[in-house]
Formats: sequence, C-alpha cells, structure tokens
Amino acid sequence: MSDRETTPSAGRSGDQDPQEATTGVQGVGAGTPGAAARAVGLFKQYGQGDTAVTALDHVDVEFVRNQFTAIMGPSGSGKSTLMHCMAGLDSATGGSAFIGDTDLSTLRDKEMTALRRDRLGFIFQSFNLVPTLTAAENITLPSDIAGRKVDQDWFGEITSRLGLSQRLTHRPAELSGGQQQRVACARALVSRPEIIFGDEPTGNLDSKSSAEVLSILRTAVDQDNQTVVIVTHDATAAAYADRVIFLADGRIVNELHAPTMDTILATLTGIED
Ligand SMILES: Nc1ncnc2c1ncn2[C@@H]1O[C@H](COP(=O)(O)OP(=O)(O)OP(=O)(O)O)[C@@H](O)[C@H]1O
Ligand SMILES: [Mg+2]
Repeated sequence: MSDRETTPSAGRSGDQDPQEATTGVQGVGAGTPGAAARAVGLFKQYGQGDTAVTALDHVDVEFVRNQFTAIMGPSGSGKSTLMHCMAGLDSATGGSAFIGDTDLSTLRDKEMTALRRDRLGFIFQSFNLVPTLTAAENITLPSDIAGRKVDQDWFGEITSRLGLSQRLTHRPAELSGGQQQRVACARALVSRPEIIFGDEPTGNLDSKSSAEVLSILRTAVDQDNQTVVIVTHDATAAAYADRVIFLADGRIVNELHAPTMDTILATLTGIED
C-alpha cells in the first residue's frame, strides 16, 4: 500500500496553484469545465411563514472534478441539505444544482433516477439499506437494478478492505451499526461512480474502519478519477480531502485548500465561537 492510501495529507493532488488556494470559491456561475457538480444560488427553505427554516441561503459552490472535498460546519448548518440537493435526492426552493452540465431541476423523475443510478454514489447518514436483502445483495443492488455487471475483483477488494468478507450473507439487522455503514460505503463504491457523495460516511466507525473508508475514497480520486464530496464532523476525516468547505447557517463561511488537522481545527473554532 502506498503512502497515498494511508497518509491523510499526502494523498491529495499536490499540483494546486498556490494562487488558487487563496481565492475562495472558484469560478462560480461560469460553469468551468472542471466542475463535476456545482450549486448556483442554491436556496432551500423548509416550511413557510413564521416557522420557515432557511437551510441553504443562496449557496454558490463548485466541486472540482477529480478532487476530494469535505464539508464541515455545526449541526443544523445545512450540510445534509446541500448534499441531498446536489445529489438530486431533494429539490431546492431556488437556484440550481448541476451535475456536470446537467441542471437537475430540468430533469423529469425518470431522468433523475437514471442520472443518480448511472453517475452518482451516495452514502447516507442513515445508511438506507434494504432490510430483507443480505449485505452482498445490498452492495450490488444499484448495479443489479441498472443491469450492470459487478466487477467481482473490485467487489472482493472493497468488501475485504472494509472487513465485510465474513458478513456478506447477513441481513442489516444482523450487523452492527458500523458494519451497516461499511455496507453502505461498499454499495456506493462498487460501481465506481463519477461522483461519490457521503453524508458522514465515517460517523459510526472506529478509527481503523474509518481510515479504510477514507483511504478507499482517497484512492477513488487519485487512481480512478472519481470525485468525492463528504460531510464530516471529524477533522481527521476532513484532512484526507483536497479542500474543506465550512457551512454556518446555510452559507459557506470559509474554505481551506490542502487542509491539515491544525488548520481545520482552527477554522472550526472560529466558526463555532
Ligand atoms: N425536512 C425538514 N423539515 C424542516 N426542517 C428541516 C428538514 N430537514 C432539515 N431541516 C432543517 O434545516 C436545517 C439544516 O439541516 P441539515 O440536516 O442540512 O443540517 P446538517 O448541517 O446536516 O446537521 P447535522 O450535522 O446535525 O447532520 C436545520 O435547521 C434543520 O432543522
Ligand atoms: Mg446532516
């Protein structure tokens, strides 16, 4: 295993323009060719009138192709809402979410389902496993539905690295929370989607499993040209990313390029004060 797979700070693509590292959100609205996904003026309100909650307050952000981005911020700051809107799992109240050049708001239900199935992998905060299926069946379900052949070598490698080889015939109720989360990770990874969205993908994992998941995500970016966007509360996890975006009250309030544990923790302290 190379350093790239094990060292949080060593794996990122190190050829970033230092100038760019200080310019904040890149090329918003222009639709730069490098964007795997982007939000333009994304606005999301829950409820109406006095009880309305603004979960996203006109967010502009680009998720650069072949980069690993982490989204951090206090509970309730809109992280899950942003992910769900970007992945077409929830619709925004205003603004646009793009996957590549596709404006998600222009898609019909069937087209959205096909786009999610063919191009995206999603690791949910609540795993969303099918209780009647085994771990192995859950992992291959999206590929099976799409009629896509599963790469058995890749399936074997992922499930073994995630410590699931002995658990593949178990149903979710027979697995621990951490094992269920690893099944959800394997399901998102097995088809090598263009973009992987993860909502706290390591939230329930011990440090060893967490490092495996993050290292697999890092490799997906470095070796398989995938794009990874995760929400995390964990600075160790965020340090694997090329870039960290900080949300507070539905807005992007800061961002770091080539983050380290120290710069992440310092930025978080500033936001939560
Ligand atoms: N279905 C909903 N109906 C009403 N309000 C909601 C709904 N979903 C989220 N919210 C509100 O929107 C805001 C953003 O929620 P979101 O789940 O995006 O936060 P988060 O940053 O992911 O938090 P956490 O770190 O706790 O997961 C919160 O104030 C939340 O209460
Ligand atoms: Mg959340």
